[in-house]
Amino acid sequence: MAFIALGVTGGIGAYKAVEIARGLQKNGHDVVAVMTRSATQFVGPLTFEAITRRAVITDQWQAGANADIEHISIASTIDLLLVAPATANTVGKFANGLADDFLSSLFVATRAPVLIAPAMNTNMFEHPAVAKNLATLIARGVHVVDPGSGYLACGWIGKGRLAEPEDVVAAAEQLLRAKTSALGAPKPPGDGGTLAGRRVLVTAGPTFEDIDPVRFVGNRSSGRMGYALAAEALRRGAAVTLVTGPTHLTPPHGAETIAVRSAAEMHAAVMARAADQDAVIMAAAVADYTPAEPASQKVKKTGGDLTITLNRTKDILADVGRLPSRAQGVPVLVGFAAETHDVVAYAQGKLEKKAVDLVVANDVSRAGVGFDVETNAVSIVSKAGVEDVPLQSKSAVAARVLERVEQLLIAVPARHAAAKA
Ligand code: CTP
Repeated sequence: MAFIALGVTGGIGAYKAVEIARGLQKNGHDVVAVMTRSATQFVGPLTFEAITRRAVITDQWQAGANADIEHISIASTIDLLLVAPATANTVGKFANGLADDFLSSLFVATRAPVLIAPAMNTNMFEHPAVAKNLATLIARGVHVVDPGSGYLACGWIGKGRLAEPEDVVAAAEQLLRAKTSALGAPKPPGDGGTLAGRRVLVTAGPTFEDIDPVRFVGNRSSGRMGYALAAEALRRGAAVTLVTGPTHLTPPHGAETIAVRSAAEMHAAVMARAADQDAVIMAAAVADYTPAEPASQKVKKTGGDLTITLNRTKDILADVGRLPSRAQGVPVLVGFAAETHDVVAYAQGKLEKKAVDLVVANDVSRAGVGFDVETNAVSIVSKAGVEDVPLQSKSAVAARVLERVEQLLIAVPARHAAAKA
């Protein structure tokens, strides 16, 4: 059971917050409702009081609220601050650290995880100021349940409607689970875990492109980063498929492992499974070119030079990015980029070109980074910005990448189920 502050702000979706309060209570949580002044124009505080069986906080200055400096005392005792609906005004206040009422003061004062469910008119949602405020909050670790699309109360049709109450409750539950498991020991697969019930496909290692039965074109990838990601996803309770090129590593226990050799084989293995995944993480160093006509017999040397024509391989990451379900963000898609210069700029280019959620970019010219070492330092590039992850073990980097994947999964909790239906 968790103690949850449910912030309700002044949007037409405020009535749905009643269902959210009820859902959280049904799951055994203790909920205190915090309403802004304009929220009370849409729903009466008595409704929340009856459901939560707690006094509703509507005013920073109400009698009793200061006996124990309530916004500080609640701030330090809650396990989660959930704000649904979150108006453009509240999102703006949170992003800028303004604290002119109880809810915004609570946001600044608490160190509990924060989940917001924005709801507003489409144009407001798309306004660059609102988009920037949301990006700021996401970059600071605030979790967001995306609004739905459809008919809005203002008569418009578009994105902005408060997410469905059950999706908001599911996102809250996932966040609470993540918090508990971050505090305790990692859970084995099938025993909960932050990725329990999720399917994650990871690619790893190089691909070998055959020239003839004894020679190939390959690269220096050891597979360590991909294997670390697979191990970490298993530790978090996911069902993991590891599609691996040739490596000397032992696959982590519990992963379904599919060994492939060439880019074409990896393409076939990934595409056959991608639509069933919640997340696809392409850590493999896939060959961009393959011999046009591999010889069936060993090529014998001659006196002169040898020219081999190479054809472009299929881009697996880009093909997964083109799956129809990607329009709903399913599966969450992570690409890798190994560069020797202009690392972040190239990664930003890949983000757009391959329609992926995150690009994990590393500068392989740096000591301790890249091929055949145990450590890595990366920049995780997304639309929300760039997160620099300093030099550390590949498993610690894998943990950070999976935390970011989990955040993306929280944003639309039911999308995998919806896409499969
Ligand atoms: N990738 C892929 N299929 C390919 C090639 C690459 O899925 N045929 C994936 C890799 O697994 C990695 C990302 O794409 O996640 C790397 O992007 P890419 O543009 O191929 O990187 P580079 O080859 O390093 O880029 P460039 O040649 O543009 O410098």
